[in-house]
Amino acid sequence: MTLKVENLSTHFFTRDGVAKAVDGVSFEVGRGEILGLVGESGSGKSITGFSIIGLVDPPGRVTGGKILFQGQDLVGRPAGEMRALRGKKIAMIFQDPMMTLNPVLSIETQMVETVRAHDRVSKADARARAIEALGLVGIPSPEERLAAYPHQFSGGMRQRVAIAIALLHRPDLIIADEPTTALDVTIQSQILAVIQRLSGEFGMSLLWISHDLGVVAGLAHRIAVMYAGRIVETGTVDEVLDRPVHPYTIGLMRSVPANLDRGEPLTPIPGMAPPPLRRPGGCPFRLRCFAATEICETEPAESQAAGHRWRCFHPQTARAA
Ligand SMILES: Nc1ncnc2c1ncn2[C@@H]1O[C@H](COP(=O)(O)OP(=O)(O)OP(=O)(O)O)[C@@H](O)[C@H]1O
Ligand SMILES: [Mg+2]
Repeated sequence: MTLKVENLSTHFFTRDGVAKAVDGVSFEVGRGEILGLVGESGSGKSITGFSIIGLVDPPGRVTGGKILFQGQDLVGRPAGEMRALRGKKIAMIFQDPMMTLNPVLSIETQMVETVRAHDRVSKADARARAIEALGLVGIPSPEERLAAYPHQFSGGMRQRVAIAIALLHRPDLIIADEPTTALDVTIQSQILAVIQRLSGEFGMSLLWISHDLGVVAGLAHRIAVMYAGRIVETGTVDEVLDRPVHPYTIGLMRSVPANLDRGEPLTPIPGMAPPPLRRPGGCPFRLRCFAATEICETEPAESQAAGHRWRCFHPQTARAA
């Protein structure tokens, strides 16, 4: 198991109260496996990713749980150790490639520095690795493009460069936070294909964060559906998308146009996800749920059938429920 997150909680201690951005989250990512983490805006997906790589800033901090990476708990590790791990064994790709890239440095300088930050190799060897990585993500004439600056690339190419940088050390785990959301569908599917191929070839595990069920359905092996800081349903892509049981998952699927027959009206989930400081007790989805009853005011325990798990008092058996 590359990554095993157990009962992770990350809270923000604000003036108005404690925002439980991540509130007891557990999931696993096996070697070479792609786990899609989906959910509405504000559900805690990014903070889950930042918690794993140790980049949660005050007033936030991990308040409980374990993050077992290759069997070792990352929670509470000294900053220096986390820095050594980041980029080398665990890499992160962001929605905005400029989170990774420095606008005033050439791609060559940035990539060579990234290689040499973790490995003692000559500049020539580091350069060769940079060229190889750019080739892997499909940058044409990588040797010539190395001298270019970030602004000389298109958005899609810039994201490829950011992915190439993430690949420089062949990390065991990549956390990708909406890396294709800002790109048009053609570029998006090219990048998804590259990532899927490389993760298979190198046995890299991938935590793919997205609010786009369609992207995750095509890319991931398993899915975890997050709502209000918790994972409400998880399983293989087939289990969760073909036989969803949690009313929230069903609601999400009904609000995706591609899942419907032509002419059928979209059915958005009513209301909005409550911000962390205004979440109801019990099941956090109950105020928007078509199946909620009084019992939902208490905490639903986790149920499971094989690898398919959910937290709901009223699991649905058919999509039409
Ligand atoms: N610095 C902060 N201070 C207080 N609360 C915060 C802070 N950063 C994040 N949060 C809270 O944590 C919750 C989860 O945020 P997160 O960024 O993980 O959501 P997300 O699922 O990634 O959403 P999106 O799809 O919009 O990226 C948010 O509801 C937000 O209110
Ligand atoms: Mg986010």
